[in-house]
Amino acid sequence: MSADRERAVVDRVPTCTFAGGTTFAVEDPSTGEVLCEVGDATAQDAVAALDAAHEHQAEWAATAPRVRGEILRRAFELMNERAADLALLMTLEMGKPVAESKAEVTYAAEFFRWFAEEAVRIAGRWSTNPSGDGRLLTMRQPVGPCLLITPWNFPMAMGTRKIGPAIAAGCTMIVKPAQLTPLSMLMLADILREAGLPDGVLNVVPTSKAGDVTGPLFADPRLRKVSFTGSTPVGKKLMEQASQHLLRVSMELGGNAPFLVFADADLDAAVDQAVVAKMRNMGESCVAANRFHVHESVADEFAARLAERMAAMKVGRGTEDGVDVGPLISADQRDIVRGLVDDAVSKGAKVLTGGEDVGDRGYFYAPTVLANVPPDAELLRTEIFGPVAPVATFADDDEAVRTANDSEFGLVAYVFTRDLKRALSVAEALEVGMLGLNRGMVSNPAAPFGGVKESGFGREGGVEGIDEYLAVKYVAVDL
Ligand code: SIN
Repeated sequence: MSADRERAVVDRVPTCTFAGGTTFAVEDPSTGEVLCEVGDATAQDAVAALDAAHEHQAEWAATAPRVRGEILRRAFELMNERAADLALLMTLEMGKPVAESKAEVTYAAEFFRWFAEEAVRIAGRWSTNPSGDGRLLTMRQPVGPCLLITPWNFPMAMGTRKIGPAIAAGCTMIVKPAQLTPLSMLMLADILREAGLPDGVLNVVPTSKAGDVTGPLFADPRLRKVSFTGSTPVGKKLMEQASQHLLRVSMELGGNAPFLVFADADLDAAVDQAVVAKMRNMGESCVAANRFHVHESVADEFAARLAERMAAMKVGRGTEDGVDVGPLISADQRDIVRGLVDDAVSKGAKVLTGGEDVGDRGYFYAPTVLANVPPDAELLRTEIFGPVAPVATFADDDEAVRTANDSEFGLVAYVFTRDLKRALSVAEALEVGMLGLNRGMVSNPAAPFGGVKESGFGREGGVEGIDEYLAVKYVAVDL
């Protein structure tokens, strides 16, 4: 990829100017160099964004559903037309290989197509009172101005799966993108404007001072909803703030996904899908397989084959041809990953491949497989968010389920078995919001994404996704 092309893509981003005129730097994690400066929103800018969202709420809610749907459909088309540039920009600010960024642009655009189709299907209900006396009318209306807080790991898709249903439902919104990756969101906002989204409906507030910007919004009764994707500790703090005015809340939080391989599993498929479930996004995903629990009769073979595949992956700058694994997002994130590996090794885990930093600039860490991981290793309990696969063993189905459920998180699990009865009983017993059965990827705009326990609540995508942005009103009708 030529440096000129990279520069041209970055230069096209509308980088925002706020009244105070201050900016913050956005960095390329593969080099540590600054890509550009972005306007740094303050508390006043956040309130101005809420003013706009509030002012336009009634008019936007009254816009024909077909019009809202067609704006989303047009944005879906523009995203696909510009996928190459959007993918390059995403790789530059976030690090993932360009092929993965392209996959994210496609995934992100699909949320717009899906919710374009949902916009025209917001129905209510008309029924007869069971007593026969009068009628019950139920309608679903936009919840009102929303605050959407998106993470750095999927800078575009985590935006479209909140923005898509908000637009479809008729809500206005303020979007706070992650400080580390605001550029993809700024390009997305530009595409929506070009697709016909009226001013004031979507208001982006990039900032280096998240608390300063979100604090006044939570304190303002005009805000009616918050949707957050990020860590569980931050989610808990936001819930406290959201309680001031009892906001509607959607929380997509941390995970600790178990990947269970039973003795009867197709081992070829399990290894292939383990690579997908672990290495998508360099493991920086809340649905990344975090811990591999493998039946003791096949654990050595599974770990050896996984290590061979992971060792063959090419680590490098995501813009280079043939690269499979980009850098981690920051030096801090790499320190966390390295610390978790060192802890496991100090407690007896064996490094089959990796276990070290790569290169002398950027934040690269080698794809790592650890065998014989003891139960007290920290990385079995903590979300790793890096390219590290710890393999532990189980002796029977009860132990597999008990170990998998022994976590405060409950986002997703992966189960590999050829026995249908076992598959269904394990699926019923696992405490998760999503499950991949003989597959390492569950994400799909047409399906409800979300967790249980401390992984949060609310669903994004699927027919459920739009409900998060609608309030039910019931009218008792006396005829
Ligand atoms: C996430 O990691 O937050 C979501 C990943 C996905 O949608 O697949």
